[in-house]
Amino acid sequence: MPEFRYEKMNIQWFPGHMTKAQRMIEENLKMVDAVCEILDARIPNASRNPDIDRLAAGKPRLVILNRTDLADPAVTARWRRWFEGQGLAILETDAKSGRGVKEFAPAVRRLLAGKLREYEAKGQIGRALRVMILGIPNVGKSTFINKVAGRKAAIAGDRPGVTRGKQWISIDSGLELLDTPGILWPKFDSQEVGEMLALTNAIKADVLDKETLGANFMLRLRALYPDALRERYKFEPDPDANGWELLEQAAKKRGFLVSRGEYDLERMANTLLGEYHDGKLGRLSLEIPDDGTVGTGE
Ligand code: G4P
Repeated sequence: MPEFRYEKMNIQWFPGHMTKAQRMIEENLKMVDAVCEILDARIPNASRNPDIDRLAAGKPRLVILNRTDLADPAVTARWRRWFEGQGLAILETDAKSGRGVKEFAPAVRRLLAGKLREYEAKGQIGRALRVMILGIPNVGKSTFINKVAGRKAAIAGDRPGVTRGKQWISIDSGLELLDTPGILWPKFDSQEVGEMLALTNAIKADVLDKETLGANFMLRLRALYPDALRERYKFEPDPDANGWELLEQAAKKRGFLVSRGEYDLERMANTLLGEYHDGKLGRLSLEIPDDGTVGTGE
């Protein structure tokens, strides 16, 4: 990754309900054959809770790179190879439109081919495979479950061993999803990761100083996607400018003036963050895999 001259800031962040979430996941894990971990394709590393290895203990895992509609396709292809290199099954989706979602059931069956044979050997022919969906907040878990279930969604009803109230959604005759996705807490020990989580709405941007977030985002964009700045904000990013100066360059072009000669950087930062969220800057990934290739792969 290129070096960024970051502005430092305090992040007021407390992983609320972490223990409750952990308990819920542990309790439900006993009832499933596999876990499906949903990540944001723009930040596959930052949106991944590293505790998943311990939590999912021994369960077969499928990784879903969601929001591929907002991510740089070349970078997503590199992430796919990176995850496959770690021995993980992977699927790329855009849960909002449904792209890639129909590959889910076949991917689970491939992942659990051995388990299916085991069930058959025990005479449990037709026993449904059960999958729990896991992911940090706002990564698209509910959207994904709804899309996978589609109009055919049928609540399979309570089953023995299932905590009262919990339900299984039948995807087809051989596959069931738990209706409540497991919420993993976002985890970060660096400001950089915290910022990426805020830029993608996994944590509320309000816990950060938005202007600083916008300034640092400008630096990241200049390093990774300078054309996005040129095209959207119509300025040539000064290679020596700091983040605030880049915000100012953009604010000038937008005419965000507060008083004579003074530009509204807060407004520009909010505009930048909002437009990134809405995909108006194009398909931009924020994390590049450490796979020995330099650049975004464009
Ligand atoms: P969660 O259960 O993991 O918390 O996430 P949820 O499904 O509620 O999705 C959060 C937001 O992300 C929703 O938008 C949803 O439409 C959007 N989303 C989910 N998957 C995708 C995807 O693949 N591509 C895109 N572009 N968006 C996706 P929302 O309610 O409007 O919230 P927001 O967009 O304002 O954050």
